[in-house]
Amino acid sequence: MSIEIDILNGGASWPIAKPLLHGVWGPHIVEKLSWGHVKWANPDLRVLIETPEDGLVCHVGIYFRTITWNGRKVHVGGLGGVCTREDRRGRGYATMAIDAAMHTLRANEAVRFGLLFCEPHNFAFYEARKWQPFTGEVYCEQPEGRIRFDYMAPYVFDVVRAPTLGTIDLCGLPW
Ligand SMILES: CC(C)(COP(=O)(O)OP(=O)(O)OC[C@H]1O[C@@H](n2cnc3c(N)ncnc32)[C@H](O)[C@@H]1OP(=O)(O)O)[C@@H](O)C(=O)NCCC(=O)NCCS
Repeated sequence: MSIEIDILNGGASWPIAKPLLHGVWGPHIVEKLSWGHVKWANPDLRVLIETPEDGLVCHVGIYFRTITWNGRKVHVGGLGGVCTREDRRGRGYATMAIDAAMHTLRANEAVRFGLLFCEPHNFAFYEARKWQPFTGEVYCEQPEGRIRFDYMAPYVFDVVRAPTLGTIDLCGLPW
C-alpha cells in the first residue's frame, strides 16, 4: 500500500480537503453541536494523507499564531480539523498526519508549544499521544468581540516548553 503525505498551503488546498471535512463536520452535523455557531480560523497549512485506492483519507490543519500566555507574547503551532474518513479509521492515518504536523511545527524555530482543542471523547486519543491538558483559561476573538473559549478543552504539547496553567489569549479566531 502506498500512502502519500502532502503538506499544502491551507487556502489553496481547501477544495481538496472540503469533501472530507464536510463528511465529518458538514453544516447539518455542526448545527446541532454546542459549538456550531463558532467562527473558526482557516489553517495556514494542511497535512493531507491520500492513498491510490481511496483518495483523501485524513486531514490535519496547522495554524501558526502569536498568542499571549499570562500577557506575554508566545508563538505557538496549532492543530485543528483532525479527521479521518469514517470508514478508514483505526489504520494509523491520524497518528501519521499528527506526526507530520508536529514535524512541521518543530521545523519552525519560533514555535514554543503545540495547542489544540478537543471534545471529551478525544481526550484519551491525545493523551496517548503525549498531549497534556491546559487547565487555565482561554480567550479568543469572535465576530461579536473577545470571549472566553470553553466549548472545547485545550491540550498542549511540549516543543520547547508548554504551560499547563495560566491564561491564554489566542489573539484571533480559535482553531
Ligand atoms: C479521532 C480520529 C481523527 C482518529 O483517526 P484514526 O485515523 O482512526 O486514528 P489512528 O488510526 O491514527 O489511531 C487510532 C488509535 O487511536 C484510538 N482512538 C481513536 N479514537 C479514540 C478516542 N476518541 N479515544 C481514545 N482512543 C482513540 C484507536 O483505538 C486506535 O488505537 P490503537 O492504535 O491502539 O489501535 C478519528 O476517529 C476521527 O476522524 N474522528 C472524528 C473527528 C474528530 O473527532 N476529530 C478530532 C478533532 S480534535
